Amino acid sequence: MERFRVVGGARLDGEVRVTGAKNSVLKLMAAALLAEGTTTLTEVPHILDVEIMGELLRRLGCTVDYRPEERRLAITVPERPGHQADYDLVRRMRASICVLGPLVARCGEADVALPGGDNIGSRGLDMHVAGLERLGAVVENEHGYLVARAPQGLRGAQIWLDFPSVGATENLLMAAVLADGTTVIDNAAREPEIVDICRMLEGMGAKIGGIGSSTLEVVGVDRLEPVVHETVPDRIVAGTWAAAAAITRGDITVRGARPHDLDIVLDKLATSGAHVEALADGFRVAMDRRPRAVDVVTLPYPGFPTDLQPQLIVLNAVADGAAMVTENLFEARFRFVNELTRLGADVRTDGHHALVRGKEHLSGAPVEASDIRAGAGLVLAGLVAEGETLVSQVHHIDRGYDGFVESLVALGADVRREPDPDYPQEG
Ligand code: UD1
Repeated sequence: MERFRVVGGARLDGEVRVTGAKNSVLKLMAAALLAEGTTTLTEVPHILDVEIMGELLRRLGCTVDYRPEERRLAITVPERPGHQADYDLVRRMRASICVLGPLVARCGEADVALPGGDNIGSRGLDMHVAGLERLGAVVENEHGYLVARAPQGLRGAQIWLDFPSVGATENLLMAAVLADGTTVIDNAAREPEIVDICRMLEGMGAKIGGIGSSTLEVVGVDRLEPVVHETVPDRIVAGTWAAAAAITRGDITVRGARPHDLDIVLDKLATSGAHVEALADGFRVAMDRRPRAVDVVTLPYPGFPTDLQPQLIVLNAVADGAAMVTENLFEARFRFVNELTRLGADVRTDGHHALVRGKEHLSGAPVEASDIRAGAGLVLAGLVAEGETLVSQVHHIDRGYDGFVESLVALGADVRREPDPDYPQEG
C-alpha cells in the first residue's frame, strides 16, 4: 500500500497533457471482442484499470499487447472467444460488466460475475438486463454470475431506458450492432465516451444513426471487422487539472483536451472568477484571486459530471461564500466529505445536497481516498491546506490518473508517493 504526502501552499503553474479517457478505453477494449482479428487502440492511458481489462480479455482467449510507453494496445480476438468473466477480476473493476453485451452478441452466451467496483453507492444493472431481454436474451442470476443466453442470436428491438445510463447504453449498443434487424435505444446516454464507442463501432462496419443524440438507431450487421481507433481525450482528468488551477490560484494549460466536452465545467470555473481560454488543442485556466463559491448540480451529459463533483466541493471549501452542491447520480459520492472535513472544511450534507461554506484556510491531516475522484479531490485539497496532508489508499487514484504525481510535481507541487507504514507491505 502506498500513500501520497502532499505539502500545501504551492500554486500550480505550467502545462500538462491528457491522454485517452479511462471511461472510454475500457469499453473500446470490450468492443474489440465483436470482431475476429487484431484491433489497435491508441492514446491508451497507463492506468491499473486498463491492465485489469487486459487480463480479463486474456482469460477470454484474446492476445493483448499493451505498450504503455507508446500509449498503444493491440487486442487479437480469436474466432471463438470464451464467454466467462470471473469474479476475481470483475470485483476489482465494475466496468468489467461491459463485456456482457459483446459476449452475448458474439458467442450467444455470457457468464459475467456480478461486480463490485468503486465505493460510490449501489449501482443497479436492471437496465442492462431489461435491454438484453428486449433483444431476445434470457438473463438469470446464478451463483453470483449474470448468465445471459441467446442461442438463436439477438434480434433488434425498441428499448426505452428509464435513465440515460452510460454503462447500459454501451452494453446494449455493443449487443445491438450484431443483432438481426433494427434496434432503437431511446433516452440513451450521450457522453463524449458514448460518441467515441459509436465512432469505433462505425469504423468496424456497424450502422448507427443518431450518434451524439439521446435516440440511437442501430441496424444490425452480420459481421464486424477489426480497426485502429484513437481514444477520446479524458475530460475528467482535464477537468481535474482545470479545477486544480482554480483551487491553487494557479495557471495551467491543458493540452490534448477538448474544451467543448467540458463547457459546463469551464463555465462554472469562469463564474468562480477564473480566466478560461479555449486553445486549438486544449484550454488554459488561470486564477488570480480567491475563488467565488459556485452552485453545482450533477446530471448526465451535457450536465455537470458527477466525476468532477468532489473537485468542485474542494473549490467551494476554500471559496468566498457558500454553495449548494447537488449529487443526482451516486448517493454515496458525499462519503468523501467526512475526510474533507478532517482538513477543516465546512461541509454539511443532507441526502443529495451538500452545503459548502468556504473557509479561508484548510489544515493538513491524514485522510483516506475512498474512490478515484474522491482521491483526486483530497489531493487537490491537500495542495491548499497548511502543512502536510497524507492521502492513503492511493491505489484508487492510480485506477484513473496516469502519472498524477509526476504531473503535479512538474506543475510545482510538493507531492511524493511513499510506502504507507499503516498498511502491511507486500513480500
Ligand atoms: C459511468 C462511469 C462513471 C461515471 C458514470 C456517470 C465508467 C467506467 N464509469 O459509470 O465514472 O460516474 O458513468 O457519468 O464509465 N443505474 C441503474 N440501473 C442500471 C444502470 C445504472 O439504476 O441498469 C443507475 C446507477 O445506480 C447510477 C446511475 O444509474 O445511480 C448512473 O449509472 P451509469 O450512468 O450506468 O454509470 P456507470 O456506467 O456505472
